[in-house]
Amino acid sequence: MEIFVVPTAPATGSVAAGILAAVIRSKPSTVLGVATGGSPLPIYKALAGHRLDMTLIRAFALDEYVGLPAGHPESYAEVVRREVTERLHLGPANVAVPDGSAADPERAAADYEAAIAGAGGIDVQILGIGHNGHLAFNEPGSALDSRTRVEMLTERTRQANARYFTSPSDVPLRCITQGLGTILEARHLLLVVNGADKAGILADALNGPVTPDCPASVLQLHPHVTVVADEAAAAQLP
Ligand code: F6R
Repeated sequence: MEIFVVPTAPATGSVAAGILAAVIRSKPSTVLGVATGGSPLPIYKALAGHRLDMTLIRAFALDEYVGLPAGHPESYAEVVRREVTERLHLGPANVAVPDGSAADPERAAADYEAAIAGAGGIDVQILGIGHNGHLAFNEPGSALDSRTRVEMLTERTRQANARYFTSPSDVPLRCITQGLGTILEARHLLLVVNGADKAGILADALNGPVTPDCPASVLQLHPHVTVVADEAAAAQLP
């Protein structure tokens, strides 16, 4: 595992984008795994500045809320469209997000898992970490070998994400998330972490026991993990 500690959140974006740019230059048909939330936004902004040819890039989002109407501005489909597809000039048909408005979300989850496999798997998966150690929406208790599926969001995660919605009660109760086993199959995991509020959970994930109580601890099982953290988030690392 390689760990880069940089002074600020924007710097995490620059360093992570530099890593991604090198991968994309060496493989123009890279399959990217993209995260939403606040942590990766500096990456997408910085990566846009590299002005790479992205025509062959495919991307898969980590997760999606279940039950938001199609086109809802806080659906991850819309967030990915704004922050990733448009910013990086990806082909819209090359970008996939789990279908959270499907009549059969379980089926949509299984189809998504198959689509990732059909694309040959993910080359580089961008990740953030939740305050409770969640990875994608794999909340504490998720099996370490779990696959893409429908899950309930914890109240803690719903509260953390309420900042994006008009009212906390508008945050959906369910999601479709790539599983921890699915994420571990990506060939390179790139975790970006910002802020003092993540320092304790980052230390637990990287140095504590590997346990479903801290889903991000599965990172310790992967042979190629890069962590980019700002100084505040890295404060409790050895
Ligand atoms: C987002 C996702 C989540 C976030 C995590 C951290 O697609 O899967 O696991 O990465 O909740 O969110 P931020 O970066 O907003 O603190």
